[in-house]
This record gives sequence, structure tokens and C-alpha cells, in this order.
Amino acid sequence: MSNHREMKRVLVTGACGQIGSELTLALREKYGGENVIATDLRPPQKPGLCDSGPFEFLDVTQREQLEAIVRKYNVDTIYHLAAILSATGEQNPPLAWDVNINGLYNVLEVAQEHQMVRVFVPSSIAVFGPETPRDPAPQEAVLRPTTMYGLTKVTGELLGNYYVRRFGLDVRGVRYPGIISSETLPGGGTTDYAVEIFYAAIQHKRYTCFVREDTVLPMMYMPDCIRATLMLMEADFARLKHHTDFNLAGLSFSAGELAAEIKKHIPDFVCEYQPDFRQQIADSWPRTVDDSAAREEWGWSPQYDLPTMVADMLEKLSRKLAS
Ligand code: NAD
Ligand code: SER
Repeated sequence: MSNHREMKRVLVTGACGQIGSELTLALREKYGGENVIATDLRPPQKPGLCDSGPFEFLDVTQREQLEAIVRKYNVDTIYHLAAILSATGEQNPPLAWDVNINGLYNVLEVAQEHQMVRVFVPSSIAVFGPETPRDPAPQEAVLRPTTMYGLTKVTGELLGNYYVRRFGLDVRGVRYPGIISSETLPGGGTTDYAVEIFYAAIQHKRYTCFVREDTVLPMMYMPDCIRATLMLMEADFARLKHHTDFNLAGLSFSAGELAAEIKKHIPDFVCEYQPDFRQQIADSWPRTVDDSAAREEWGWSPQYDLPTMVADMLEKLSRKLAS
């Protein structure tokens, strides 16, 4: 199995997104700027991504574009982050299918053909559906999602595991919870309220939340998300019983609890609730997840809880919005 070889030349797809924009910089710290090639459909919003290493335009649905970049830079590892998220996916299901399924298929085929060392393919809590136990969602669970996004993520997990078994390609992935971060806005998911609320609290002291006050979902702060990703990609392959479908827990809270925690720092902050179509998506996902497999197989443990995450977000975002 390829896991004994070292990762030297890393390609990141969807590098301008919420996770990619921070993960790319963390990977450049680790492997050197020139060795981490950032790619996306859209240009980087921030100079950091272009200044610290190569950037190339890449549409993952176009296999020949991917192939050309892999050859040009002699890529041996891919972090495949390009995707259409849950809310956008419900508004445009064919696009979600094309990017999330055909894009992933291209990545796996090119990775296999070029005998890559490793591929990271994130999954999501969106693989679960109303029939899965919600508190917590077990590692081995019924996977019958009701969104196109969730359906593509289940297929992605199965496809990744197929390449591991059938071709010996080292594919790894976690079911990320909703990610909270201050650098780049989220890209059209159901958990976006947990980021938007911070911008609104600092800038307007008011937020209208698109899910009910009592909606509880699994979430994770970006530093934990980056740490988990790097930990899994560096884990000993021999210890892994799972590959593409690790449950991953950070913290779980209701929208109301998040608003109350923010109010401790901004006492005149007011949050109102006007649920829209995303409420139904949120209601189909679990409240917490059991991540004991990640803990046992590669030593996962999160560092942030609700108070420490909120304090750090407010500090970082206030600084950013003031500059
Ligand atoms: P994002 O929407 O912020 O970024 C995705 C990026 O992909 C965007 O920059 C977009 O321009 C790019 N993209 C879209 N179509 C493309 C195409 N055809 N070719 C190339 N690039 C394309 O998403 P994110 O939050 O950074 O998510 C990264 C990965 O993590 C995705 O697989 C997502 O499903 C998964 N995930 C994210 C979260 C979260 O809360 N952020 C939670 C669970 C799983
Ligand atoms: N945060 C993501 C979404 O809401 C979960 O995968 O779509």
C-alpha cells in the first residue's frame, strides 16, 4: 500500500473555499509553499493564497484540466475540497451531482492512474438522514439522506472505499460537522448561520437566524478542523479500520445557546428566528455524533468548546472587520 511513501507535492481543489483557504496555508507551512498547489474555479479573494505558492484555475469536472496540472507539478497527493454544499445543492441538484460525483470520480481516477500516495475526500454529517439515531449518530449507521448533497456524500464515501479495496489507493476522509471560521465565509451550507451570526453580531448587533432557536447540530471550530485533517492524513494506515467515513465531533449546541454565548460578550445583541427551507435540512441531520472510531484509530480529540470557540471567533473577527 502506498502509505509508506511520503507526501511531497500536494494539490488542493476548491482551495478558495471556507476550508481550503485555511487548509492550503497550513499545508504550505508543513510542506513548503512551492509544494502545495492551490486550485479553484474562482480566483482567490485574499492575496495570501497566491503569494505563498502556486495557484491554478481548475474545474474538477474537466478531467483533462486536472490531468494537466497533476503532470505539470508532479502531484502525489490530493486534498479534494471542491464541492457544492447542502443549501446550494438543494437549489441546483444537477450541479451538485456533477461537481460532487463527476468531479470526485475524476480525482480518484487521476490519482489511481498516477499512483498517488494519498487522497483526502471530505464527507459530511449530511450523509445521515431522518432514520439515523440523532443523539448521537453512530459510526455505523443507516445512511439515507434526504438532500442531493447528502446523497453525493454517501456515494463519495462508498466510491473512496471502493478505490481503497479494489486498487489499493490510499483514500481518507472524515464526516465534517458544520465548520465555524473567521477567515472565509462559508459557501452555501445549512450550518452557515453559525458563522453569519458572528458577522451580524459585531457589525449590526442583530441577526435573523434561518433555523429555529432549539436547532442543535454538530459543529467544529476551524483550528480543530485543520488539526483533524492533518492528523488523519498522517495516521498510520495499518491502524485504520475505516478510511473515508470517520465520524468527527467537535461541539454541539443549539442556535439559541450560540446566541446566548455571544450575548455574554455583546450584551445588546439580539437574535431573531425565521426558519426557511434550510430548517428541513437541519431537522434531517443528527444533533451529536459518536466519533469513537476516530479517537481509537488515529487519536482524535477536539480542543475547543462553545465558550472558547465564541471568545476566539469574536476576537479574530472583530480585529479583521476593524482593519
Ligand atoms: P466551500 O463552498 O466554501 O468551497 C468549495 C470551493 O469549491 C469553492 O471555492 C468553489 O469555488 C469550488 N468549486 C465549486 N465547483 C467547483 C468545480 N467544478 N471545480 C473546482 N472548484 C469548484 O466549501 P468548504 O466549506 O470549504 O467545503 C470543503 C469540503 O468540505 C466539501 O467537500 C464540503 O462538502 C466538505 N464539508 C464542509 C463543511 C463545512 O461546514 N464547511 C461541512 C461538512 C463537509
Ligand atoms: N456545513 C455543511 C452544509 O451545511 C455540512 O456538510 O452543507
